[in-house]
Parts: sequence; C-alpha cells; structure tokens
Amino acid sequence: MNVVMKANWNYPTKVWAGPGRIAELPAACAALGIRKPLLVTDEGLKDAPMVAAARALVPGTGLFAEVRGNPVAKHVEAGLAAYRAGAHDGVIAFGGGSALDVGKVVAFMSGQTRPMWDFEDIGDWWTRADARGIAPVVAVPTTAGTGSEVGRAGVITNEATHQKKIIFHPGMMPGVVISDPELTIGLPPAVTAATGFDAFVHCFEAYCTPGFHPLADGVALEGMRLIQQYLPRAFDDGRDLEARSRMLAAASMGATAFQKGLGGVHALAHPVGAYYQTHHGLTNAVILPYVLAHNRAAIAPQLAVIARVLGLEGEPYAAVHEWVLAFRRRLRIPHTLAELGVTLDQPELIGREAAQDPCAGANPVPVDAATFTRLFQDAVNGDLAHPV
Ligand SMILES: NC(=O)c1ccc[n+]([C@@H]2O[C@H](COP(=O)([O-])OP(=O)(O)OC[C@H]3O[C@@H](n4cnc5c(N)ncnc54)[C@H](O)[C@@H]3O)[C@@H](O)[C@H]2O)c1
Ligand SMILES: [Fe+2]
Repeated sequence: MNVVMKANWNYPTKVWAGPGRIAELPAACAALGIRKPLLVTDEGLKDAPMVAAARALVPGTGLFAEVRGNPVAKHVEAGLAAYRAGAHDGVIAFGGGSALDVGKVVAFMSGQTRPMWDFEDIGDWWTRADARGIAPVVAVPTTAGTGSEVGRAGVITNEATHQKKIIFHPGMMPGVVISDPELTIGLPPAVTAATGFDAFVHCFEAYCTPGFHPLADGVALEGMRLIQQYLPRAFDDGRDLEARSRMLAAASMGATAFQKGLGGVHALAHPVGAYYQTHHGLTNAVILPYVLAHNRAAIAPQLAVIARVLGLEGEPYAAVHEWVLAFRRRLRIPHTLAELGVTLDQPELIGREAAQDPCAGANPVPVDAATFTRLFQDAVNGDLAHPV
C-alpha cells in the first residue's frame, strides 16, 4: 500500500492533502471564485522554483514577497497596496506561518474600513468587521508547524509596542488548503525541527489547558503521537514523503486543537520573539520544559495520558520531562534562550508582556508577571530543576 495517500478532508476546512496536489491550484482558485489571485510569500521563497511553478499554474497571478519572519504591520500594509494596485480578487497564501498570516490578513483587510488593530482577538472585537469584505484565500503551507492554514487568525507584530497581536475573524479561515508534502522537502533540518516543535507545543498546550473540549483533546493527542514518530524522520531525511505528509497533517491538527487555548509557553515565546527576533517554534521548543516544570502539579492527569500515548514508562511527569529533553537533543535544539541570542537586559519587561499575552490566561495555573520573569531568566540561563 502506498503510505503517502491522497485525501480530501473537510475538517476544519477543505484540505486537499497528498503529493503533487499543488497541480490543483487552478481548481482551488476556481472553487473560491478567484480569477486574479495575489500570491503572498516571504523573502526567502521569493525566487524558489516552486513559487514560479505555482504562479504559472494560474496565469495572471501577482506576486507579493516582502514578508519577513515575525511579520509586522508594514508587511500587511505593503501587501494590501499590492493587492489593490493589481486589482486582485483573492489571495494564495504560500509559505510558512509568516507568509500565511500576512496573506490571510491582507485578504481580510482588503474590504475593511477600520484599522487592523481594531480586530485584535479581544472579546467580540471581530464583530466590528464587515464579513462581506473578506477576500477568499487558498492556503499552501510549505512548513509543517504553525497550522495557520487551518486557523482563523494571523499573528502580526506591532513594531511600535513590540507586541505580537492576534488578528482574528472566523471568516479568515482559508477556503481551501493544499497540503502537498513535496513542497516541504526543501525545508532545511533546523527549520524542520523548529517548526515541527511548534506543532508539538500547540498539541501539548491545547491538551493541558483547562476546559471541556474533548474534540480538541483527541486531535491534540494524535498530533503528539504523529510528531513523536515522524519529526525525527523528516529531520534526518527531508525527502521522506511519508514523514513530511504526516508532519503537515500534525501541524494542521495542532492549530485545530488550539481553538481550545494555548498557555504559558506561547505567552512567553511571543514577547521573546517580538523583542529578540527569535524563530517562534524554536523559542517554544526551548521554553517548553521550564513552563512544564512550573505547571507540573496542575496537569498530573493530563501528563498521565500523554505519557501513555507517547509510550513512556515510569512516573508520568518525570517521563514526559525526560522525553521532551531527549527529543530536543535529538533534533539539535538548544537548552537555553541564551543560545538563541536572547539576553537578560530587560527580564521584568518580558515578564510583564508575557503576563499580558492572551495565551497567559489559558495556562493551567495562574502565572503573574514576576513568575514569568523568573521563568524567562531560567530559560535564558538554563536553570531547570531535575524532575525527581
Ligand atoms: N496563525 C497562527 O495560528 C500561528 C500559529 C503559530 C505561529 N504563528 C506565526 O507564524 C510565524 C512562524 O512561521 P514558521 O514557523 O512557519 O516560519 P516562517 O514562516 O517564518 O519561515 C521560516 C523560514 O523557512 C523558510 N521556508 C519556508 N518554507 C520553506 C521550504 N519549503 N523550503 C525552504 N525554506 C522554507 C522561510 O523562507 C523562512 O526563512 C511566526 O510569526 C508565528 O508567530 C502563527
Ligand atoms: Fe505556535
């Protein structure tokens, strides 16, 4: 049996999964009524043959490739200007989370009159938007990490305040996702590891956050199992299509699960990424064990299930903790934020920002600014108490 099968899923949106399915980009655009798309991607992929090949599939596709990692408002503004100048009628969001987020927010903002920050994910602010003004989006992920392709939000940094803001609207969900593992084979091992770990932390935090959401819990557990099994394979051999296809699925599962909520790892990773320009997934991977140690007492029942699903023996907290450390080492992810270039010049500020991040409230135990400051200092220095 071919282990890399094609499949169409309608959960949580239309996902066309399988190798070579980028060839169906014209059908995806047609299904959403897009005749003149703008392809939004990042600077690193601008000249990639797969971008040229995708544009050639739909004649007249414009290109906006001025997106950087941890995108800021000016990337969205420039994308909007390109969208309007080219009289486009939809977006092909093509790339990692950074390009997907900007592409989705450009499509969302193309028909709004209020400023973008009015649509931050706070209360019911999204109801301020004119839903008829949201342009359709085909999402084409080329990393297996953020799951932004199946999400209803875009993460954009406010440069003035150094805050990562979540711009949210239910209508921001892409209409079709093309999940083609062949597009991820060129992803270097370090980016494969960092983005894959982001997907793991999505599943992990979603499973551990309190709240009644058995659908998300089931998806999160299977996502963790897939990542345990397939991320090392994708890391070792980027051409392993079976591993690449499972990692793409797991990334979408992480984002599906975190509709339930995330937690302290993401709350702390957001200001660290905004201030020190560290990669989002890599930052989460470094921080996870420090926050895990802090949450230990509150998540004992969840850890018992996670340990079982991952096939770990012994006392669950110690087993999960040791496994996370070993998994990081296996993927050559550092133990300290200092190794990512993060310094201790403003720990109280990072702690305050983390405590205000919307993900902080979803952490299994309350975390105040002083505690986030200490967790940040521990993660920079590598101070991690042994579990047993
Ligand atoms: N919307 C959401 O729900 C959500 C969730 C988590 C994270 N995020 C955001 O997503 C961003 C991170 O996204 P990411 O981790 O995918 O990284 P990224 O999009 O910043 O890309 C990382 C690097 O990989 C390169 N790249 C991408 N695909 C490639 C390929 N196939 N071959 C070779 N190189 C390739 C890019 O050019 C870039 O240099 C952050 O801004 C983060 O805040 C969003
Ligand atoms: Fe994330």
